[in-house]
Amino acid sequence: MPAQPDAYRDALEKARAHSAEWLASVPTRPVGPSNTADELAPRFAVPLQDEPTDPGGVVDELAWLAEPGLMAMPSGRFFGWVIGGTLPAALGADWLVSAWDQNAGMRYATPAAAAIEEAAAGWVLDLLGLPRASGVGFTTGGTMANFVGLAAGRQHVLEAVGWNLDADGLSGAPRITVLAGEERHASVDLALRYLGLGLPRTVVADDQGRIRPDALADALEKVDGPVIVCLQAGNLHSGAFDPMREAIAIAHGHGAWVHVDGAFGLWAAVSPLYRDPLDGLDTADSWATDAHKTLNVPYDCGIAIVSRPDVLLSTFGVRTSYLIHADDGPGDPFEKVPEMSRRARGIPVWAALRSLGRRGTIELVEGLAAHARALANGLAALPGVEIVNEVVFTQVCLTFGSDERTRAVTQRLIDDGAVWMSGSHWRGRDVLRISVSNWSTDDADVAESIAAVERATSAVPSDAAPADAAPADAAPADTAPAGSAPADTAPLD
Ligand SMILES: Cc1ncc(COP(=O)(O)O)c(C=O)c1O
Repeated sequence: MPAQPDAYRDALEKARAHSAEWLASVPTRPVGPSNTADELAPRFAVPLQDEPTDPGGVVDELAWLAEPGLMAMPSGRFFGWVIGGTLPAALGADWLVSAWDQNAGMRYATPAAAAIEEAAAGWVLDLLGLPRASGVGFTTGGTMANFVGLAAGRQHVLEAVGWNLDADGLSGAPRITVLAGEERHASVDLALRYLGLGLPRTVVADDQGRIRPDALADALEKVDGPVIVCLQAGNLHSGAFDPMREAIAIAHGHGAWVHVDGAFGLWAAVSPLYRDPLDGLDTADSWATDAHKTLNVPYDCGIAIVSRPDVLLSTFGVRTSYLIHADDGPGDPFEKVPEMSRRARGIPVWAALRSLGRRGTIELVEGLAAHARALANGLAALPGVEIVNEVVFTQVCLTFGSDERTRAVTQRLIDDGAVWMSGSHWRGRDVLRISVSNWSTDDADVAESIAAVERATSAVPSDAAPADAAPADAAPADTAPAGSAPADTAPLD
């Protein structure tokens, strides 16, 4: 094996070259992958050879073989699920994180990583207008950020009734009631399952998916014992925000711990144009958001924020003789997240915010929302298109008549390849969901997207037209599991 620096040099140079080639192709390449995982698997699952091979060659091979299976998620024309792109400074920083290879769990052992993450945490609290003394952990994503907030809530509400969770566990503990809106994200239920708290009691929502404060108050009246309320800043379909100040006051009136899931929507708080619906947000107890969505840092990075750093420490704190613990300052990074060994995920967050500045961060958020508004306006003008949500932030939901037609148009759009949008089902109807989450989306991408939807709608007969009127190459209506890549375009040699 060649000497260390040279071994890295060739591999990194090749990685740089392939990355540059990939990123250069993103603005114009079809957005969807051209091969499925099953089609690609034989390329990678070859018999493992006996002898070592050249590191640089492995990087070349990986880039070549993977290319047909890459989704252009960094593209300004990618609007699927809720997936952010990657800001240049954040990508460069992420590469450094890999090269530095710091196990960023202990403040003493990795001082630079700790200092950078603490600075990033301070900027995040400042930009989001959250209590500056809060504890902040950089997690693997919104799901684990929800887990951290709800775990802290569990710890706190049990401590408040004199139950020692660390010593006695959950068996025999007073039952914790969790209340959450009917349009909460599935990751909330997942986090509660991991925490052994079961499914939450569902509180009805209004037609935009916002929790109804009156229903929350009624539900709380029926609760005895420890209680956690989970609110949402940014509904997956409508983009709407729960009425924070009112709902939090009602919940606190019943001694509840209030957690806010704001995976993409919490960032509306930085914008003077979009923060009003989040009035009172800072009165909650814990918050979850993603950096890999609206802030456009590379996957994966979530941000867990807990107003009471002492509760965060008592939830995730661990002491052991072979480690060197921080007894001062904001504590060790691993005492704020579910992991002990961890990647320094907060470093790309620092780089993203350093490159954007306050004004750039506001413009990023407002730009995403403005593009969502422009898409909604342009699409609403197309025949047979109905925008079914109030477009208040970055999410747009639309239908094309019947569910069948909506699914067929969605599949047609994916086949077209110019843009990527994903299907869903909301309030009893199949919809096409558009999530504007990529910093690089521009007016040209918006125009191209509207044109692509127009092409797809004109390729699928309207509901009124008799079935046999379908143009010859229209995709059959029943093949429309949204998001699946069509098999017949695989450029397998
Ligand atoms: C509202 C909301 N909460 C939580 C999550 C989960 O976040 P992640 O996928 O980063 O775990 C998402 C993901 O889309 C979301 O939209």
